[in-house]
Amino acid sequence: MSNLRQNRLLTLAAVALATLGSLFGAALAYIVYADEMKDARAAAELAPTQGQQAKGTVTFEKKPAGVEVAVQLEGLKPGVHGFHVHEKGDCSAPDGASAGGHFNPAQQPHAAREAPARHAGDLGNVEADASGKVQIKIIDPKLRLDGPESIVGKAVIVHEKADDYTTQPTGNAGARVACGVVKAAATAR
Ligand code: CU
Ligand code: ZN
Repeated sequence: MSNLRQNRLLTLAAVALATLGSLFGAALAYIVYADEMKDARAAAELAPTQGQQAKGTVTFEKKPAGVEVAVQLEGLKPGVHGFHVHEKGDCSAPDGASAGGHFNPAQQPHAAREAPARHAGDLGNVEADASGKVQIKIIDPKLRLDGPESIVGKAVIVHEKADDYTTQPTGNAGARVACGVVKAAATAR
């Protein structure tokens, strides 16, 4: 083989390798990106428990300051209602009891959303207006959409009464009037 031919072959091989390398790199970057985005949003469709009318949608989206929780509910009694993530993604019981207690992976006491120590699922209260509707957004630094403390697969519950932030371990918020399982959502950007 002449030196010239050898050089050409080497150049070809180098170009082929570089092309493969950048294709592989792009594919890897895409997989990492897709994986990040997969966990960036979640949503729960809330349905009324037996004898109730409350329903709506709660979406969760990862933001730099925490998870943004957008709450849209209707069919509530006007006033303040306890609002939590519960430990089991099971709304099958007529009274919502199948969702279990408040989601509490770090073994903390029940408290207000702003409290330094609280259940991860303690999202406090929402207030329904005179027409029974709630439309709010909050940013919560403690919620997780991935990892061992992820709320995906848990349940969002709205209660009959206000959470008093004190009574253990429930906040004494009364009956469960709406329940929905938190599901990972496809990102639309
Ligand atoms: Cu609750
Ligand atoms: Zn709690």
